[in-house]
Amino acid sequence: MNSRERLVAALDASLERISQYHRTFGARFPTMGKMGLYQLAPNDNWLAGFWTGLLWLAYGATEDEDLCAHARELLPSFQERLDYRIHITHDLGFLFSLSARAQWQCTADDPARVLALRAAEELVQRFRDPGCYIQAWGEIADPEEGGRTIIDAMMNLSLLFWASRETGDPRYQQSAQQHAETSRRWLLRPDGASYHTYFFDQESGKPLGPRTHQGYADDSLWARGQAWAVHGFAVAAEWCQEQRFLDASQLAAERFMAELPADGVPTWDLRLPSNAPRYRDSSAAAIAAAGMLRLAQLDAGGREAEYLGWAQGLLDSLLSHCFETYPGAQYLLRNATVHAHKGWGVEEPFICGDYFFLEALLMLQGRAPDFWGP
Ligand code: GLY
Repeated sequence: MNSRERLVAALDASLERISQYHRTFGARFPTMGKMGLYQLAPNDNWLAGFWTGLLWLAYGATEDEDLCAHARELLPSFQERLDYRIHITHDLGFLFSLSARAQWQCTADDPARVLALRAAEELVQRFRDPGCYIQAWGEIADPEEGGRTIIDAMMNLSLLFWASRETGDPRYQQSAQQHAETSRRWLLRPDGASYHTYFFDQESGKPLGPRTHQGYADDSLWARGQAWAVHGFAVAAEWCQEQRFLDASQLAAERFMAELPADGVPTWDLRLPSNAPRYRDSSAAAIAAAGMLRLAQLDAGGREAEYLGWAQGLLDSLLSHCFETYPGAQYLLRNATVHAHKGWGVEEPFICGDYFFLEALLMLQGRAPDFWGP
């Protein structure tokens, strides 16, 4: 089998596997693995949307009505997230783009659209001016967390861009665009490497400097953060038609590829000293591949074929080293690392990696509904 045929076969196997196992999780959400099995949780953390997003991707490709029914059954738990303010952070974008927006997009369900707009209103409240960034964690203006934004937040902007288009209210778009510009300026280094988190003075907005959370060190290169930068800036470029964001995504993609290990599977941090553990993070490869496929569809200065080749290479490496072929498996990829310092999901399945792996495989075939872009 050539690479293309292998990727098509992996897509077919993934869709069949999801149809077989999805009901076994019931009303709970797969999060990350422990000893190769997904840990299940209620809808109370940043990962819940990846599960509904995966169901919607699979439904779009298979038209299996049971996948649609399952995803719909989970939507009330997202409403409860807002009603009871359960773990409200910048991750509202991940959560609601891949649940309420996806449901509206796949089924034209108006209450789902209204719920996604409600989440966007909550998210825009986290925009901090001066400083012009979306606060990542904690209560707004929290003394410890109020000054912090993170590269991951680039992925949450699409909910805001979308909300402006839906409502005609420019506030969401303006905040998202300003946040993207702040991130481009301060969270992306001149060589295209991202910082994971960055602090601003809450009173003056003055940039204070980087501090990592999940990376090896403040000035190292956390692999999943770099993948968020590739994907997030590409989406921002699409919504804003801004060359600067396209350039940022391209630069981040080049840096990601330049620092990959020889087998093409990222380590959890791409700048590890020789005495650090070299855990793999398959999710970073999956996210970066989906981001590069997006770049390949934009007017990327004649480099579209290169991005397509990079994405295909990353997916090939995932197939060779991380794709699970055991027929009874309830996940797609092994070898993600969620949080190396805390020992969470180290070299384990991870629902976020599964989501982007499926998104990328479907994009390659031109079959992915787009829950991020315009
Ligand atoms: N957004 C959190 C993470 O990527 O681990």
